[in-house]
Amino acid sequence: NMKEIKKAVIPVAGFGTRLLPATKAQPKEMLPIVDKPAVQYVVEEAVNSGIEELLLVTGRNKRAIEDYFDYAIELERELEEKGKTDLLNVVRNVSEMVSIYYVRQKVANGLGDAIYHAKGFVSDEPFAVLLADDIIDSSKPCLKQMINVYKSYPGIILAVMKVPIKDTNLYGIVKGKKIDDRLYEVEDLIEKPNPMEAPSNIAIVGRYILMPSIFESLKDTKPGKNGEVQITDAIRNLLIKEKIYAYEFEGARFDVGEKLGYLKANVSFALKNKEFGKEFKKYLKDIVEEA
Ligand code: UTP
Repeated sequence: NMKEIKKAVIPVAGFGTRLLPATKAQPKEMLPIVDKPAVQYVVEEAVNSGIEELLLVTGRNKRAIEDYFDYAIELERELEEKGKTDLLNVVRNVSEMVSIYYVRQKVANGLGDAIYHAKGFVSDEPFAVLLADDIIDSSKPCLKQMINVYKSYPGIILAVMKVPIKDTNLYGIVKGKKIDDRLYEVEDLIEKPNPMEAPSNIAIVGRYILMPSIFESLKDTKPGKNGEVQITDAIRNLLIKEKIYAYEFEGARFDVGEKLGYLKANVSFALKNKEFGKEFKKYLKDIVEEA
């Protein structure tokens, strides 16, 4: 009687220093990728993967996110009166996608600490974590792919992708044994090793399926790299207790938490836009030739 994954946690309490000054007075998760805030892509991925309840771990200066998923009474009335039904539906759908809970992380003590704030929400069920920094463009939502893996391999599942060896110091890196198509059994994991020490180039990206056992482990996890409680360390402590798998998802991942990745995501999604994708492509071709 395996429990299904119906709950997900999206931590959004980080400072977003890599995107300064844009993030000085607004959450990075609210920066648009073409016409939707980054966080909405991730919420949609969760909903399209069968998640029914979401917890956002927020912090100071993040209130715009809560307002975004709430009703916008005055705006909706205005659109209704003007007969702008299409826009009204777009705006209203955002607030009716899924039930969202909020908890505040008062001090940004790291991703692991942010996830620890989900203890009460999660209770005794397996759950998913999605980072809004990682936007994954795929025909089947990344989390849905992972939930499918979980059905055959119940355990902790980490989304991974191969990265250039020189970039291992930017990621949690997995040492694993290949056991199935796109699937590794994890033997060890290391947070941000330099290329000389990295056991592989298999890097963890911002999608996890975790067990409630993570909370016990987090409680015992000391601050690691950057003085922050690292989720990688807490997962590592579970190696003796839980099966841990790394799944190489299908899709293109954008790190929208840094400037170049943010730009790439915008260009890539703009090219796919039904309304102006063709025209945008032509524009890009023209300016690239001129440059
Ligand atoms: P990052 O490592 O990207 O940190 O966090 P950050 O503060 O958001 O951004 P930079 O590095 O300063 O540019 C990864 C994820 O963990 C969340 C962030 O919101 C992001 O989704 N996080 C991080 C928290 O919720 N709380 C924290 O204390 C740290």
